[in-house]
Amino acid sequence: MSNLLATHSRTRLCGEYSADHIDEQVTVFGWVQSYRDHGGVIFIDLRDRSGIVQLRFEPWVAQGVAHKLADMLRSEWAIGARGKVISRGDNINRKIPTGEVEVLCDELEVFSESPTPPFEVKDDLDTAEAIRLKYRFLDLRRAALSRNFQLRSAVYQQTRSYFADHGFIEIETPILANATPEGARDYLVPARVSPGRFYALPQSPQQFKQLLMMSGMDRYMQICRCFRDEDLRADRQPEFTQLDLELSFTTVDQVRTLLDGYVSGVWREVLGFEVTTPIPSITYDEAMDKYGIDRPDLRFSLPLTDLSDLLRETVTFRIFRGALDAGGIVKALYIPDGKAFSRKDLDKVLPAEAAIYGAKGVAWARVQPQGAWSGPVAKGVDDQLRASLNEALGAQEGGLILFSADKPSVVNAALARLRVVTAERLGLIKPNTWSFVWVTDFPMFEYDENDERFYAMHHPFTSPRWEDMDLLDSDPGAAKAQAYDLVVNGMELGGGSIRIHRSDVQQKVFETLGLAPEEVAEKFGFFIEALRYGTPPHGGIALGLDRLLMLLCGAESLRDVIAFPKTQRATDLLTGAPSDVEPSQLTELSIRSAVDD
Ligand code: AMO
Ligand code: AMP
Repeated sequence: MSNLLATHSRTRLCGEYSADHIDEQVTVFGWVQSYRDHGGVIFIDLRDRSGIVQLRFEPWVAQGVAHKLADMLRSEWAIGARGKVISRGDNINRKIPTGEVEVLCDELEVFSESPTPPFEVKDDLDTAEAIRLKYRFLDLRRAALSRNFQLRSAVYQQTRSYFADHGFIEIETPILANATPEGARDYLVPARVSPGRFYALPQSPQQFKQLLMMSGMDRYMQICRCFRDEDLRADRQPEFTQLDLELSFTTVDQVRTLLDGYVSGVWREVLGFEVTTPIPSITYDEAMDKYGIDRPDLRFSLPLTDLSDLLRETVTFRIFRGALDAGGIVKALYIPDGKAFSRKDLDKVLPAEAAIYGAKGVAWARVQPQGAWSGPVAKGVDDQLRASLNEALGAQEGGLILFSADKPSVVNAALARLRVVTAERLGLIKPNTWSFVWVTDFPMFEYDENDERFYAMHHPFTSPRWEDMDLLDSDPGAAKAQAYDLVVNGMELGGGSIRIHRSDVQQKVFETLGLAPEEVAEKFGFFIEALRYGTPPHGGIALGLDRLLMLLCGAESLRDVIAFPKTQRATDLLTGAPSDVEPSQLTELSIRSAVDD
């Protein structure tokens, strides 16, 4: 049994030592960061989640017993020590906050040793991420990561208190649930006692939170785990955390005001940044038109211009002509500082970026004196047309015009990408700038030409604008939803909507989505039934809390704010999940694995 633990408790965390504590007898616990021997005196940097304090072991203190043991210490051993806080005199270490002092130790205890770790626990390391994930418990000892989780915890406290102050109650909803149509694939769990049947892990608690409004809970909040089996990216994990909210008797404006208050409070508390409220908004149509995307990064301007109407009559340039004749569009991104882009950029780098989104090329023109053009498009545009295009774009000498011609989905996606790539290159994205925007009035439905059917743009519980109700019958594709996304620096932080609160409208939306009445009855019968019993008008939103933390921490990936994240292939390199199971377990679940057949 440990002597030190039995006799003393920790005086304070390592990172909390300062000159105020000089002459105090203290007990410290932590991990060995480094070992140095300077002429017989041993220095140990002792680390915990708060920081580092230096320990000093002299051979002539306490008969040299502690010093002798200190000589054996190696990286990542867990130890405890006692001693006196002393000033470092002229040897102050300005690089660490505790650098004015050290602990002159007369007692040392090794709690546990460690083999040489697979990487040094320090922040500027170039170890492959796969190794760091396999030894995640060591990776998490690093200050940069540890800080992220301490911040995450503080944001959770602030979140709970903000919503409690606004009358929200926190309610948990099932994890073993039914399919939720959020658009991703479900994770399924076989139900042992109902052979052949499955639970689905929730993609979100959408139906439950609406049921809670029908239950009269009035304002619900939950910090909940959601599960989506989808293709992963830096800002997507198969399991992630939402701040999930729902309010009764509410409107789009009320939800926005509530969220404006929440995010501005968090940005103020964590970053000392004042978000301007009310956060401005842009409609979906305007965002697509000007920026080509429903989550525009507005830290910089660089708007797009639709040139289709100007070009339609007279343009001869083959690529534009072809796209317009095929019912497509031509849009342009105008860059005032065209010199920043070389011929290689124009012919290779930018087209490669656009190609990711299916664009077959990027035509360009450099603006010369008197508004003349050089480049591949110049010959296909006569003087008069060029003058009107220059005017529409605000083009000046030295400018660069990038064109995309194709069907709208390709043009918009390609130019949205080029907007960001060129802004990065031009240094238009300044560090520590934040641009918040609400995107509103999304279409209710998206038509999929391959499947020849409508899909819900948000989810099927979203209400049309009250004035668009009749369009559900006459022209569903034209109906706009009472849906909104909160976008920060080009990332979708959250999304929500005012919901349908009438069972006949809900039924109609399911029909528009091509669900047969039996299917509606089977999957959503309980929900349509519940809607009949005096459902209050209600609406809500969910924020991606991991994404919020990623922004606040300045992290590149969600993996830096999730303690035990999954890889791109949805595996956990630490525990080895997903793993094989015993054949007997499958039998018990009435399941046969196709992989073994
Ligand atoms: P939505 O599907 O837009 O809405 O999700 C809300 C927010 O959750 C975050 N998010 C993710 N974060 C990390 N990894 C993922 N795979 C992932 N998928 C989504 C995003 C997103 O904005 N039930 C509705 C909300 C509502 O209508 O109230 C919903 O889930 O930040
Ligand atoms: P070409 O006439 O094939 O030499 O192409 C002329 C220019 O048009 C090149 O810069 C191509 O990258 C570009 N281009 C090709 N297809 C498209 C397209 N769909 N939209 C815009 N530019 C394109």
